[in-house]
Amino acid sequence: MKKICLLCVAFIATLTAKAWDYDILISTRNTSLLFSANQGEELRFSYYGDKITPAQIGQVHDAWIGMNRPAYPAFGMDCTRSHALQVVHPDGNMTLDLVVDHIEERDTENATLTIITLKDKVYPFFVKMNYNAYKNSDIIELWTEILHTEKKAVTLQRFDSGCLPIRRADVWVSHLSGNWISETYVTAEPLQRGMKVIKNTDGARNAQGAHPEVMLSLDGKPQENEGRVIGAALCWSGNYKIRIDTEDHHSHTLFAGINEEASEYKLEPKTTFTTPKLAITYSEEGLSGASRNFHRWARNGQIHGGDKQRDILLNSWEGVYLDVNEQEMENMMREIAAMGGELFVMDDGWFGDKYPRDHDNSSLGDWVVNKRKLPHGVEGLIATARKYGIKFGIWIEPESTNTRSELYEKHPDWVIRVPNREPRYGRGGTQILLDLSNPKVQDFVFGVVDDLMTKYPGIAYMKWDANLPLFNYGSSYLPKDKQSHLYVEYHKGLEKTLQRIRAKYPDLVMQACGGGGGRTSYGVMPAFEEFWLSDNTDAMQRIYMQWGTSYFYPSIAMAQHVSAAPNHQTGKSIPIKFRFDVAMTGRLGMEIQPKDMNEKEKAFAKKAIATYKDIRPVIQFGDLYRLVSPFDKKEVASLMYCTPEKDCAVFFAYKLDHYANQVIAPFRMAGLDATKYYRLREINVPDGEKPCHLDGKVVSGKLLMTVGLDIPLHKEYASRVFELNVVN
Ligand code: GLA
Repeated sequence: MKKICLLCVAFIATLTAKAWDYDILISTRNTSLLFSANQGEELRFSYYGDKITPAQIGQVHDAWIGMNRPAYPAFGMDCTRSHALQVVHPDGNMTLDLVVDHIEERDTENATLTIITLKDKVYPFFVKMNYNAYKNSDIIELWTEILHTEKKAVTLQRFDSGCLPIRRADVWVSHLSGNWISETYVTAEPLQRGMKVIKNTDGARNAQGAHPEVMLSLDGKPQENEGRVIGAALCWSGNYKIRIDTEDHHSHTLFAGINEEASEYKLEPKTTFTTPKLAITYSEEGLSGASRNFHRWARNGQIHGGDKQRDILLNSWEGVYLDVNEQEMENMMREIAAMGGELFVMDDGWFGDKYPRDHDNSSLGDWVVNKRKLPHGVEGLIATARKYGIKFGIWIEPESTNTRSELYEKHPDWVIRVPNREPRYGRGGTQILLDLSNPKVQDFVFGVVDDLMTKYPGIAYMKWDANLPLFNYGSSYLPKDKQSHLYVEYHKGLEKTLQRIRAKYPDLVMQACGGGGGRTSYGVMPAFEEFWLSDNTDAMQRIYMQWGTSYFYPSIAMAQHVSAAPNHQTGKSIPIKFRFDVAMTGRLGMEIQPKDMNEKEKAFAKKAIATYKDIRPVIQFGDLYRLVSPFDKKEVASLMYCTPEKDCAVFFAYKLDHYANQVIAPFRMAGLDATKYYRLREINVPDGEKPCHLDGKVVSGKLLMTVGLDIPLHKEYASRVFELNVVN
């Protein structure tokens, strides 16, 4: 790896005649963020975009390229504009007037952290603006620390993580939204006058509806591989609000932070409120370029174990649902091992003694094995997995309980509910959320994982589910005057618990699941290797969901499972090749009853799993280039992964619509080396079929990227996968 200086942070105290006393330049390898300030005045945002050098700062100011907007507008003095921070002081004063106090810079192994401390002109109230610029990805994380030494608590009414002005132009926002079994659909829309708000109020999971991430295409309608794009991802697992304000003639302003609704926070003197991080990136290579920046950053620490190859697994859910039993578990283990899989995960249904988990209306909280279903216990299953040469994983949902459970009988005060009202229940009519603001509940949740790992150290993987929103707003732990802290404290409690688990069990592989894709969130991902994207495993719909998710999340974290035909959610019968071709673009797995597969399907699966093992490094660690978006309605979709060295790539194409005399445009590739030649090899070809005419052909990177290839996609549900290798 070449070692170059990736980052430059400069504080330039100008002695010559220039507009500002201070210019604070925060740079990554290819991007720069510039703030300016005069002594004792407000911090101003000047510029975010392509990298500039300290010598160019003068040009940015002189030619009015810089924007001169408040960097973190606080309510009060200029109360005509949208703001990022709003407080009430103990004396009832609702204003802040923050000015630059001092600036620090700290170098860490991977990043340079710049802290700009702002201080109110009158009150002992401080805001530390943190900017962490990563050396190995073009990502800058923004967050604030809010603290004071006033006599009594200050009430925080709004407390955004950051704010980013963007020049007014034909700017489009792309964002994800959906619902259970139809997660992460992409909406791209031009920013119009007014306020665009993207928010979540689930309370427990925050990616089931909208998503706390956006892409802003600065040059009109979003393009995958062209144009300037700013991406932003809020790293918070609870309620959030992203606001894009277009009320100014000259700018759009992005605000992002914890959703302030029902969340007033009373900040005691000498305590610090730290907002979640907002990760921003800038790319001139379109949406895909911004995605690659997020992916690199994610693999380098924002997802757990981002540098570790993922196993190919079989999950039992769609195979047996709650009908878990020892014989069936063994059958499934034998079958996945025979197909070349590496891990078996026993999903819901294995636990509960007094109240066996036979239905979804009982047992959460009672994390003891059900001996009727599994007479030889979890240890027996681990031994069986070993016999077949695979690893073993297990499902838990530790943040919830059911009223039909021993846990609830013992600790009714541990749930989130309102004292004088009949609770509203979730799944099964009995499910209720535990109050993670309570340290005793945090200990319990930690203990769920700790007990299982202590009793059964052979567990290699845990699926951590969360099927419930936060109903019944009320905590018996939080004091009366701090009930409005619940949304925030739940997630701080969750974060603390996950950190404890990770400190003790760094090698346990964990999946974040939120009743489908509800936990696809950088708020939790530092503790999880991967997330479950959706309870919808229909390959055709998955193309859309995976596409949207890949805007922000890397393939290595995306659990993608081949399931049955007909599909359990949509009833569609999709050929096994298409199902594999779709699942193989992420962390491949299966979620199927193998005994219902015919011999042809099993043979295909075995071959496809072996093929995936060959291409796994490119898929899981390579650079993603999305080529033809399914949302562009071009009747096909296509994407590819390339190694950073550009010596190897894997290309995927899918047919979405099917009719006679269909015209499909050539597929233009991306991410290759224009000066090199590549040999194409068609992979995942079903037995008895021949690879297409392109198999074995050698074509230059330039032709592949400029002219492209006609890929034969004749039949309904046609799909093709090619491996490309540089020819010496
Ligand atoms: C949720 C998950 C599923 C499965 C079930 C088990 O719905 O998303 O994958 O684990 O719970 O009850």
